[in-house]
Amino acid sequence: MVRRKLVVGNWKMNGLRAHLPQVAAIGAEAASHPQVEVGLCVPATLISMAAEARGGAFIGGQDCHAKTSGAHTGCLSAQMLKEAGATWAIVGHSERRADHGETDADVASKALAAHAAGLKVILCVGESLEIRDSGEAVPFVLAQLEASLPEGAAAEWLSIAYEPVWCIGTGRIPTMDQIAEMHSAIRAALIKRLGKDGNAMRILYGGSVNAANAAEVFTVADVDGGLVGGASLKVESFGPIIAAAA
Ligand code: PGA
Repeated sequence: MVRRKLVVGNWKMNGLRAHLPQVAAIGAEAASHPQVEVGLCVPATLISMAAEARGGAFIGGQDCHAKTSGAHTGCLSAQMLKEAGATWAIVGHSERRADHGETDADVASKALAAHAAGLKVILCVGESLEIRDSGEAVPFVLAQLEASLPEGAAAEWLSIAYEPVWCIGTGRIPTMDQIAEMHSAIRAALIKRLGKDGNAMRILYGGSVNAANAAEVFTVADVDGGLVGGASLKVESFGPIIAAAA
């Protein structure tokens, strides 16, 4: 099974109009590596401008509401992201789970809402350091995956990102053996749940991916790309990661 590598930047709460040249430069880098699917999930305020500058990269949102409209002050529906120019959305990022109390059931609803609006989805899972140290990382992540993955999930519109919380923004990454163990467990769970389509679904690694470690991470079996935070803000650091996936 050949799965096209997917490399996505998550800008989190970073980026103003002044950063649009970075979108354009990353978009140009993406266009020069057409064998890799490249995207940038930018703050919602930048989506429409980034969609103009995107070059070979797609633009995504970082979250969406599970409902299509209503009395939800400060929230954005998937359709709103789509209209602004997003074609993808991240759901279930650990920062959303921690800062906004999002449950697995919320994440599954958000994924379905994004799909209903015509967005592709990156669904995040990952364990805390406490769980990693307890030796329960694999069963924890598989349970989170089982409960967060919506009914009807399909490889064509949904990808998984495994992001150990203790590696996000910390400069730490798991050993390649730990990444391989988790990705192979996720692969087996996806095949069990989705059959053949579980083999087509992409599984990204995220957490302190950078230009120095990307090539090694991307050679691990069942690592189909990366979700990249800090190193995706500038083409100087994100470009080599895109190239490493090519
Ligand atoms: P990081 O973030 O690359 O800055 O560790 C990854 C993420 O949270 O998606």
